[in-house]
This record gives sequence, C-alpha cells and structure tokens, in this order.
Amino acid sequence: METPICDFVRAYALRETVRAHMPGHKGNARLGAERLDITEIAGADELYAADGVIRESERNASRLFGSAGTYYSCGGSSQSIRAMLFLAMTQAEKPEGRPLLLAARNAHRSLVECAALLDFDIEWLYPAESESICSCPVTPRDVASALDGMEKKPFAVYLTSPDYLGGMADVRGIAGAAHARGIPLLADNAHGAYLAFLKPSLHPLHLGADMTADSAHKTLPVLTGGAYLHVSENMKFGESDARRALSLFGSTSPSYLILQSLDRANAELAGGYAGEILRCAERTAELKRRLARNGYRLFGGDPLRVTLAGDGKEIARRLRLGNVEPEYADRDFAVLMLTPDNGEQDFARIEAALGRADGCSGEPRRAEIVRGRRVLSIREAVFARQELVPVQEAAGRIAAAPTVSCPPAVPAVISGERITGQAVRAMREAGIECVSVTADFI
Ligand SMILES: Cc1ncc(COP(=O)(O)O)c(C=O)c1O
Repeated sequence: METPICDFVRAYALRETVRAHMPGHKGNARLGAERLDITEIAGADELYAADGVIRESERNASRLFGSAGTYYSCGGSSQSIRAMLFLAMTQAEKPEGRPLLLAARNAHRSLVECAALLDFDIEWLYPAESESICSCPVTPRDVASALDGMEKKPFAVYLTSPDYLGGMADVRGIAGAAHARGIPLLADNAHGAYLAFLKPSLHPLHLGADMTADSAHKTLPVLTGGAYLHVSENMKFGESDARRALSLFGSTSPSYLILQSLDRANAELAGGYAGEILRCAERTAELKRRLARNGYRLFGGDPLRVTLAGDGKEIARRLRLGNVEPEYADRDFAVLMLTPDNGEQDFARIEAALGRADGCSGEPRRAEIVRGRRVLSIREAVFARQELVPVQEAAGRIAAAPTVSCPPAVPAVISGERITGQAVRAMREAGIECVSVTADFI
C-alpha cells in the first residue's frame, strides 16, 4: 500500500530545503525526530481541508477498515469522540430544549466534557450489576427498554466497547435496538482499533455502529495521539462536515509525525501486520490458558488484553520484579495490553514473572453502582466556579469535575449531580481524596 504522507515528508527532508516555516527546530535533531516533523507546507496537504496526500492516506485507511469514511485525529480518540458527538447531534432533528444522549455510564471524560461544550444532557444506562466499577455491561434489552421509556428522543446511543478491563458489549444487538427506533449508535472504540483485523472482525463498525472513535495508538503501531474517526454509510453528512467537526476540537497545527505514523500503519496493515494480529490473538489466548492453569482468574473478552482479577497491586509488583510494566493495576485487577510488537520473549517473561497465582488471584469484589441525581446541567456545573473539598466533606455538594474516576470507569459522580453519602463511600473506597464541587450552586 502507498504511504503518500511519509513519502512526501521523507522526500522533503532529503532535499535539505531552507525551512523558513514552522516548526522552530528547523529540522535540527535534538530528540532525533525533528527532520520528519513539518507543518502544512505546500504539498503536505491540510488536515481539516484535505485534498492531497492526507486525503489519499485516509482513503487507504478507509479501505482497510471497510468504512464509508475514515478521518485522522492527532488528538487521540478524545478528539474523535467529540467530533462524533457533534456530528450526531447536528445531524439529528432539533429537539425542544437541550439535545439528549443515551449513554452507558462507564464513559471516558471526553464524553462529559463534550456534553459541557455542546450543552447536551445525558441519560445514563447503568448495569444491573457489575463486577467492577470499570465495567458497565448493558444489553440490547436494556437499551431497548430505556429508549422506549424516554420522553425525548435521544440524538444517539453511546457505548464504550471494549472497556478498560476488556469487557465487550453486544454491539450487534444494541445497534439493532437503536436502529429499530431510528437512532444511530456511536461507539467509543478507543481500545479496539485492531478488532477490524480479527477473523471475523469484532470492530463495532462491522457490527452495526454508525460511527466509532478508535485510538490507533493504543492497539496499532502508531505514535501516541494518532486516532481515527470511522463513519458508516448510514451517516448522511459529507466529508467536509466530518473535517469541520474534527477541526472544532483540534489544533490547527496537527503533528506530521503522528500523521506519518498513521500513514505508515496502513502499509503495515496491508502487509503482514493484519496476519500478525491474528497470531498475537492466538498467542494471547494461549498465555491466558497457561495463566489460568497457574491459578489466575481471567476477566473480560478482549482478545489482546489480559485482565487478571485479584490483588492487582501484588500482581503488578510481581510483574515489575520481572521488569514487566502493566497497563494498569488496582486492588481488584491488573491489566496487560499486548500487540504483535510484543515478541515471543515478552510473553515468556510475563509468564515467568507471574509464576503461580498463590494468594493474589480471586473473584473480583462486587462494586456498588451509584446512581447519580442531576441538579444542574453538565454545562452549568463544568462552567461554574469550583472549589476542591476533601471527599468526606463533599456529601450534599454538587460535583463540578467531569467525572470522578480514573481510569475510565463507572464514575461515582458526574458534573451537575448531587454527591450522596453513597457516592462519598464509593469515592473513598476508590482512594479518591478530594473532589471538585461547584462553589456558587449549593
Ligand atoms: C475508553 C476510553 N475512551 C477514550 C479515551 C481517550 O483516548 P485518547 O487517549 O486516544 O484520547 C481513553 C483513553 O484512555 C479510553 O480509555
């Protein structure tokens, strides 16, 4: 596959042209990457009005992912998520009052920040029960009955799948429930760009989602910040609308290092990398089987993620002793993210570092799901004057911070909700010490 962005930048770097343009380093290597770090000069195209090498590269990505349109983001899925929401909201019929979104509660903060920026309300879908505050398993039936019970038609249904622990939603079923009611499905697929290359594909776009935001950098060989906005043929807006939406939330100086990396990934995927993803999924399944035989309890269905339930901190300590750094660990889980760029040696080292589970594996504790009670709109709360208070003094106050949880989890409170005693307990359990509350609205 052609790599038009990389070819342009490399040819430019070889010409040793006097760089009387940004960036200020002029290509002189201090870190080493500067030679290939350019700006939108003649011939390099323009990300938000692309009609040259960037557009060609995005079309290559679109063919690889089987989308109707694929657009690059240098601001991660955070930027793609905001653009996706903007597009869905502005495409929908204008409602009376604030637009409304139906969303599973384990959403990344970029959704809540976007609700503040665009001033829409969110009706949350809570799981019936959850094994962790990181999971929010909602079913097609949950979505159908929520939609049927809503007085106002939401502009979209919004899911996070895969979630941080590797939980995978029934995207096909949920898309069916949404589409039957004339509502599009948006998927935060930040952790699942690679799913398109499994056989069969598990990518949400191929299972019925109408738009997805994928962090290429999380699971594909792409520099940090590189992401996609994928659009299905069900969405009727044009290419310029998609670019306008992304430009609202991004810098006018996109990183050409990231763009080259996204471009290069197309060539890798069209070459052997897609096959390597399949082999890596098989190798990861084998690692999971071996860890299970060693007494570990595995969690989640994401094929390239190993989530170990039990004393995550102890599991992480063992891994670090073996010079393995996990993606995440808390008192209930440790998460490892693997790709074909982890060689066979890495798998062997992970297995050796973990050894037998003895004492650090176990059933995850049931998490208490706190239902929020909204008293202000998300926008009112995020834009309000705020103060930071100790969690134990926060009961009765109104949350201002977008979400109180990290990593992406089912948050104890979200901006605009009254903080209950139950929410205080949940935050203390999660080790949160301070929370930002509105200063003027009590
Ligand atoms: C579920 C989820 N969605 C969205 C994001 C944002 O992605 P990015 O870091 O690419 O902006 C993250 C980041 O960790 C995430 O975990």
